[in-house]
Amino acid sequence: MAQRKIVVLGTGGTLAGTSSRPGDNVGYTAAQVGIADLVGAIPLLRGVPIETEQVAQVDSKDMTRGVWDKLEDRCKHHLGREEVAGIVITHGTDTIEETAFYLQEVLSPQKPVVLTCAMRPATSLSPDGPQNIVDAVAVATQEEACGVVVVCAGVIHDSRDVMKVHHYRLDPFSSGDAGPIGYVEEGEVRLVRNWPGDWILYTRTAPVPLQRVEIVFSHAGASRDHVDALVRSGVQGIVVATTGNGTVHRELMPALLDAQKQGVKVLRASRCAEGGVIAQPGDELPSTNLSPVKARILLLLGG
Ligand code: SIN
Repeated sequence: MAQRKIVVLGTGGTLAGTSSRPGDNVGYTAAQVGIADLVGAIPLLRGVPIETEQVAQVDSKDMTRGVWDKLEDRCKHHLGREEVAGIVITHGTDTIEETAFYLQEVLSPQKPVVLTCAMRPATSLSPDGPQNIVDAVAVATQEEACGVVVVCAGVIHDSRDVMKVHHYRLDPFSSGDAGPIGYVEEGEVRLVRNWPGDWILYTRTAPVPLQRVEIVFSHAGASRDHVDALVRSGVQGIVVATTGNGTVHRELMPALLDAQKQGVKVLRASRCAEGGVIAQPGDELPSTNLSPVKARILLLLGG
């Protein structure tokens, strides 16, 4: 049987970035080089059956729901093709964890969907993008792989757990307490736990997707002003990035309870990088053990 294809969808990021000064790993412009050129320049991938498609060309700090919708649509199309083994998506590191979580929630794919990225632009003296793409293709080719994962610096992360924890180093992600799913070593995948599986991570009992969900922070000196302004402007959902185990500043809490009474969906998610909120009997506001940015996606999808 002919070797099945990998489809590589490009969305931009540093991996596709360029700088006018070679060796400049900070002062570059993201999302400049097309995905066909990036993949075509990797000698190790010559002869591998790969199709490329440019879905977007953005710095991922500017990621939008529109790009997510388009990615969802293109993934559904390619995943439905018998001859496609898996999908690789190139993406900026800044919001890759959000896009990965979104795609896992909406696709719950039986085949692998592997997001990858780079911390150095394509014009760097030593770019990390080409190796990350090669590793992502190795993961997407795995017969038994499924679900949405992020591959960077030889580490495979579950979309649920992955979080960017460093702004500069080549291995900028952590999967926190859960740890990575596995590693890619010289093209070989070494698993240390299971693939994400074909389940939807968070069951929605009454799915009512929301159009507008904002995140507010609880912090020293917090007030109710932001929440009141959001409610006045018609927000439908608010995630509060709480201190510690779901705690909220006493000046902010009444505004959130008022918002909830007015029909705004309010969800607590800890601003601590690791761990999650442990719910208590009698909690006045619901909570999640997702990070605030992923909790926002949950509400957007009607969680
Ligand atoms: C981006 O997220 O698009 C820029 C930063 C990066 O890719 O590391």
